[in-house]
Amino acid sequence: MTAPRKPVLAGNWKMNHGPSETARFFADFLPMVEPGDDRSVVFFPPALSFAAAREALQGRPDVRLGVQNVYWEASGAFTGELSVAMAKDAGAELVLIGHSERRHVFGETSDETAKKVRAVLDGGLTPVLCVGETLDERRADRAEAVVTEQLAPVLAILSPDELGELVVAYEPVWAIGTGVTATPGDAAAMHRAVREQLSAAFGQAAADAVPVLYGGSVKPDNAAELLSQPGVDGVLVGGASLDAAGFAAICRATG
Ligand code: 13P
Repeated sequence: MTAPRKPVLAGNWKMNHGPSETARFFADFLPMVEPGDDRSVVFFPPALSFAAAREALQGRPDVRLGVQNVYWEASGAFTGELSVAMAKDAGAELVLIGHSERRHVFGETSDETAKKVRAVLDGGLTPVLCVGETLDERRADRAEAVVTEQLAPVLAILSPDELGELVVAYEPVWAIGTGVTATPGDAAAMHRAVREQLSAAFGQAAADAVPVLYGGSVKPDNAAELLSQPGVDGVLVGGASLDAAGFAAICRATG
């Protein structure tokens, strides 16, 4: 019997919304979304907006915060990077790892994502591991193979207990910021493939406990259908999470 996984509604703001806009966003957004324990709402603001987000969220423990990236070293001469301990101290509970923009714009490899996942788990935060194929890879019928290759180095460094700390986000690169969404059927098929890989490594019960989110042009008008697919446990939203009313509508789409 599969344990029910709480739907996760996550907004990745990327390099948008500075501190002032962050305060304005939450002043608009919070009254539109009733606190509730039937879903998990998470924001990944830019690091410089984190304090403003935390301040705005006082009294709303139902809305959690994460950072968009970390470095795996604990401290030192790594200009421009953030450590896991700093993210935790600032109030982050989750960390995006291996987002397609990290992989494709900044050249991050799957081995580097594995090191980051290790550091995040060791630091007591939750890694949200992003995986997904490019359009060329999908056209070459390699979509599942690519996602398998991206997951494998991370699964190799996890203990069975740690699998329960992981969140996976399937974000096909061709659907990110393009307005083209994976069909609900394509998303469900990839989510099934991801869960089969988790199950092959750690057993069905452990695999069933891992939330697998979908990301890529999720909007208020397609969120409910995507969220109703078997194995789609939530959404990781980019552009549409920048608008308070739009993201509030997505949060209400959990049925
Ligand atoms: P969009 O929702 O803008 O396509 O971005 C998705 C994404 O990359 C979330 O991490």
